[in-house]
Amino acid sequence: MLFPRIEKTQPCEWEFDTREPPKIVIFEGFDYARFLLIPNEDNPKRCILEYRILEKQTISPTLTRYRIHAPFVARKAQPGNFVIIRVNDSGERIPLTICESDPASGTVVLIVQAIGKTTKLMATLCAGGSLADVVGPLGKPTEIVSDQSVACIGGGVGTAELYPIAKALYKAGNRLSTIIGARTKELIILREEMAALSHELIITTDDGSAGRTGLVTDALRNLLGGSSDISTVYAIGPLPMMKAVAELTRGFGTKTFVSLNAVMVDGTGMCGGCRVTIGGTMKFACVDGPEFDAHQVDFDEIMLRNRTYREMELLSDGLFERGQACAAQEATS
Ligand SMILES: Cc1cc2nc3c(=O)[nH]c(=O)nc-3n(C[C@H](O)[C@H](O)[C@H](O)COP(=O)(O)OP(=O)(O)OC[C@H]3O[C@@H](n4cnc5c(N)ncnc54)[C@H](O)[C@@H]3O)c2cc1C
Ligand code: FES
Repeated sequence: MLFPRIEKTQPCEWEFDTREPPKIVIFEGFDYARFLLIPNEDNPKRCILEYRILEKQTISPTLTRYRIHAPFVARKAQPGNFVIIRVNDSGERIPLTICESDPASGTVVLIVQAIGKTTKLMATLCAGGSLADVVGPLGKPTEIVSDQSVACIGGGVGTAELYPIAKALYKAGNRLSTIIGARTKELIILREEMAALSHELIITTDDGSAGRTGLVTDALRNLLGGSSDISTVYAIGPLPMMKAVAELTRGFGTKTFVSLNAVMVDGTGMCGGCRVTIGGTMKFACVDGPEFDAHQVDFDEIMLRNRTYREMELLSDGLFERGQACAAQEATS
């Protein structure tokens, strides 16, 4: 099928070189780059490329839940998949896990921790605004075991990444022992949602403000050392947490999966930015993962690689914060 020539006129707006643009055009240039173009009511010759934020909910000062209109992603997403988004046309590309997807409404849910420039910029968007790109679903879907006793370990925002996997494990007839850990009570997320899927739910906080005081590995050690017959562990969270879980479960001989948050750029295996070493072999986290056998991962290498751009990230974050402070000052003066 021949598509009308489209020319980019300004961020998120495209003009058709036809007299009568179709009502809705599905532009499928590449398999992973599909756009839904919706006619602009004010100017029928223009179509708007829309990844609209339909809902925005603040979970905690740094965590936000977004429901986004991305029908092609929603239609194909599976547990473990992620998207690469750009907030605006000149923005950085960042990977985010698809926490929920609903093909009927054509929406996906992302839960995002605002920790640097791009995630903080995203937090300034409101419901009704849109993202420049939502590319996906990317990555390999999670290997879901069935009819077993499994442990699901979520650390910080990793709990949001674990949620679709826990749902699929529950559906496959597994018995879930879930441990959610965070630094403080405010950072515990999806407590009720995870409880609904779990045979038992254990909360741990570093400061003891909720649940047991201590780390997720303390609770996991008790589970594995007790009478449970856990055969598989799924752990998602900060790299030091996943490394500690891997070291613990290796001693018990328990199969363990982790999701690696390597630095990603294209998400399609072309740039090499997400290189990780698994069992002595080089893999790309974006296409070969992001989930891998935890006992094969070279955690020290990925932790070192993730620090490569720290100086630039801090600089960029500082400039963004200063810009926000200036804008706020101007708005009030
Ligand atoms: C497969 C995958 C799924 C993810 N899912 C989620 C999620 O659901 N919710 C969430 O809050 N975060 C998720 N992340 C992490 C998220 O991508 C980073 O927090 C985000 O890129 C930070 O960007 P920034 O500009 O705000 O912060 P920066 O200050 O630029 O970076 C802060 C830290 O984030 C990491 N980071 C920065 N840029 C990238 C990048 N392009 N790719 C990967 N990591 C990067 C680095 O470790 C860096 O030190 C995921 C990461 C991966 C790889
Ligand atoms: S992000 Fe470029 S190869 Fe994986």
